[in-house]
Amino acid sequence: MDVLEAIRSRRSIGLVKEDPLDKETIAKIIEAGTWAPSHYRTEPWHFFVMEGKARKALGKALVKIALEEMDDPMTEANQKKVEKVAEKPFRAPVIIAVAVRPSDNPRALKLEEAGAVYAAIQNMLLAAHGLGVAGYWRTGAPAYHPTMKKLFGLADHEYIAGFLYFGYPKREPHEGKRRPINEVTTWLAEEDEFEALI
Ligand SMILES: Cc1cc2nc3c(=O)[nH]c(=O)nc-3n(C[C@H](O)[C@H](O)[C@H](O)COP(=O)(O)O)c2cc1C
Repeated sequence: MDVLEAIRSRRSIGLVKEDPLDKETIAKIIEAGTWAPSHYRTEPWHFFVMEGKARKALGKALVKIALEEMDDPMTEANQKKVEKVAEKPFRAPVIIAVAVRPSDNPRALKLEEAGAVYAAIQNMLLAAHGLGVAGYWRTGAPAYHPTMKKLFGLADHEYIAGFLYFGYPKREPHEGKRRPINEVTTWLAEEDEFEALI
């Protein structure tokens, strides 16, 4: 698939089959992530692959975090919520949690370390798309919660940048929509015009 076509046609697809992905396919997706650029070549990422029952532990962590928000977890509504939260990781056969592990290189900016990992995630989503695998980048407040750091053995300054849900799609992706580039682009052709900005 042509790169531009892949970029345009990639969609977040949540509805996937339970069929597992083979290890080779998962490895290709991760390797694509590692080809992202990183300033000072810090490669500040780490990948946690969850399949099968490993997804249950993620569900338990999500439940633990959800319980903290509840005054009374025993109400019927909250019990239902807890059940729903525990099931979340079972929406796809493979979840890859992508962590930011900022380098201790004093020149590496934290912001750029995060940027490199975000680039890695986009590479992974595109690679998956090219391989016929649907991907979905999910976060939400629980991704950054201390319980989540604990689950993955991360230090305080490290964090999960995304849970990437992968599986074979059940349906064709829907059409995407983006603002036209003239709404988000300023063409700076004339030097004086540009200078006038400072
Ligand atoms: C940092 C980040 C976090 C995201 N977290 C969620 C999420 O928690 N739940 C969700 O439904 N989508 C999440 N998304 C996916 C966006 O909703 C999705 O990319 C957007 O709707 C555009 O759709 P597309 O990817 O199909 O083009 C996230 C995207 C990014 C970049």
